[in-house]
Amino acid sequence: MKLSGVEVHILDDKEAVAEAAAEVILRSARESIRDRGDFKLVLAGGTTPTAAYRLVAKGDADWAAWHIFHGDERCLTADAPERNSRVAADAWLDYVPIPRTQIHHIAAELGARAAAAAYAPVVADALPFDLVLLGMGEDGHTASLFPGHEIPPNALVMPVYHAPKPPPERVSLTPKALCRSRMLLLLITGAGKREALRRWQLGETLPITAVMRGGHAEALLDREAAA
Ligand code: 6PG
Repeated sequence: MKLSGVEVHILDDKEAVAEAAAEVILRSARESIRDRGDFKLVLAGGTTPTAAYRLVAKGDADWAAWHIFHGDERCLTADAPERNSRVAADAWLDYVPIPRTQIHHIAAELGARAAAAAYAPVVADALPFDLVLLGMGEDGHTASLFPGHEIPPNALVMPVYHAPKPPPERVSLTPKALCRSRMLLLLITGAGKREALRRWQLGETLPITAVMRGGHAEALLDREAAA
């Protein structure tokens, strides 16, 4: 399968994707910390990365040098189980000694506009990232960048309203921010993603393709998605 600008790896199943993703994350961290003294990682939301997060939590890492950011967040209360920050904490962040001041959640409980305004300087100070993790929706969305939504040209973080994937109100890093990374890693599994992958292969512009203009991009797909 050829996705323009992306090194594609097709693995047997979603468990293999999770294992490979955890290896890439831990290796990127070792290399970033060796070369620059810290590791700046942007997490993907949704369900696909959760298994990889659980494996990373068991890894041997210099957690004190990790800095965690989110690619997007859902405008729900801070403790809502569907919050991307909650999913990452339950699977991983609550079980490793990354300094809490180095875990940068998006304060989406403030509402999309205020949360985006508050997170923009956090992102600006962090750029460039070392690794950005991304999922992809069945419509080709990534983070909370949805088809047909206007993206403010110079923004690093944007409020999202009327998202087709609940909840309707969200906060998202823009392609301008997401692509400012030494590496992008896409995790795409399941038959439901086939159609969006097919459209991408045929050269259609999708929200996710707008992000693929930065550093080295790799995609980990399972056979179900790549069929
Ligand atoms: C979200 C995510 C979103 C997700 C894709 C894929 O908040 O839902 O940021 O972009 O990555 O929709 O979701 P799954 O991994 O659950 O298929």
